[in-house]
Amino acid sequence: MTKAGFKRLSSIVSNFKDLRIAVFGDLMLDRYVKGSVKRISPEAPVPVVRVTSESSVCGGAANVAVNLAALGARPVLVSVAGRDQAAEELSSLLAAAGVPAGALVRDGAFRTIEKTRVIAEHQQVVRFDREFPALLGPAAKRAALASLAEVLQEGCGALILSDYGKGLLEPATIKAAIALAAKRGVPVFVDPKVEHFQLYRGVACITPNTAEAFGGMRLTQADGQPAAEALGAAIMKKLALRTLLITQGEHGMTLFVRKGAAVTPVHIPTRAREVFDVTGAGDTVISTLALTWAAGAAPEEAALAANFAAGIVVAKLGTASASVEELLESAKSWLTA
Ligand SMILES: Nc1ncnc2c1ncn2[C@@H]1O[C@H](COP(=O)(O)OP(=O)(O)OP(=O)(O)O)[C@@H](O)[C@H]1O
Ligand SMILES: [Mg+2]
Repeated sequence: MTKAGFKRLSSIVSNFKDLRIAVFGDLMLDRYVKGSVKRISPEAPVPVVRVTSESSVCGGAANVAVNLAALGARPVLVSVAGRDQAAEELSSLLAAAGVPAGALVRDGAFRTIEKTRVIAEHQQVVRFDREFPALLGPAAKRAALASLAEVLQEGCGALILSDYGKGLLEPATIKAAIALAAKRGVPVFVDPKVEHFQLYRGVACITPNTAEAFGGMRLTQADGQPAAEALGAAIMKKLALRTLLITQGEHGMTLFVRKGAAVTPVHIPTRAREVFDVTGAGDTVISTLALTWAAGAAPEEAALAANFAAGIVVAKLGTASASVEELLESAKSWLTA
């Protein structure tokens, strides 16, 4: 990062606080049950976990909204929750993180998605998921789209589609959401699901990881930067994208930008000094990218900011987010002379 680049980033982040960013997608509650293991169960060959703590954090689209709030923006979360205990917990977690829940649809027939991880001696023993996509009916989806239409009409700097493949985002709702954003001139950013790849045609940017990028194109995964660059060019062409960001875990990310007929790849190496927990790095990437872009950054600048933010969250334990102060501090520490 150059000194001029840092000055520019400082001025861009000062626009964050006035920006409303809509997040549309699958909402979930991530639960953690932690404990110790002293013996094997007499009932079955499994460890007995003596529970010492239980906690929950926002997952899926809710975590994207939390990341936006941590950066000082004004996220608007549009999704469907049930009328259950998990939804109550999500409401208080969102409130504590500064995410308004006014645009959320509460549906009595639906059950809020929960993922519970049992962690013993710092190792995940088992995870159980409570998800019942069949309970997400057409009326709830219609209500969510109506809510999104209202949110976009009130004005938004960007729309993020947080697609975890849990039912809210399906071909009809994805098409409708993209059309609603197009009508208002709002750029759309997508954290994609492999099965829905073809539906994201023409959006501002999608942010698949390497496996999703290959999977979305129905190709077998290949290693190395040349393979990633050929893949990126093919995705850009196939989906008629303006930009594409392939995240590459410990290898960083590669941004593809269309300039006329040509597609230029720019590789950005990781900016993590220490890595503790990579959970949620993808949510941090899409939220920082969309927000920075909406604040007036060029795609290259937005990707750089997203990479700094991801480097911060992977150095924290548990699903985490980055603040503007941390973002600037990190950018500063990578200043070149
Ligand atoms: N092991 C790592 N070391 C350093 N940086 C990392 C590491 N893993 C992830 N990152 C950072 O986080 C970004 C996103 O990570 P990744 O490519 O794993 O996304 P993802 O698979 O979508 O993540 P998620 O599991 O949250 O969906 C990377 O581009 C990089 O900046
Ligand atoms: Mg991801």
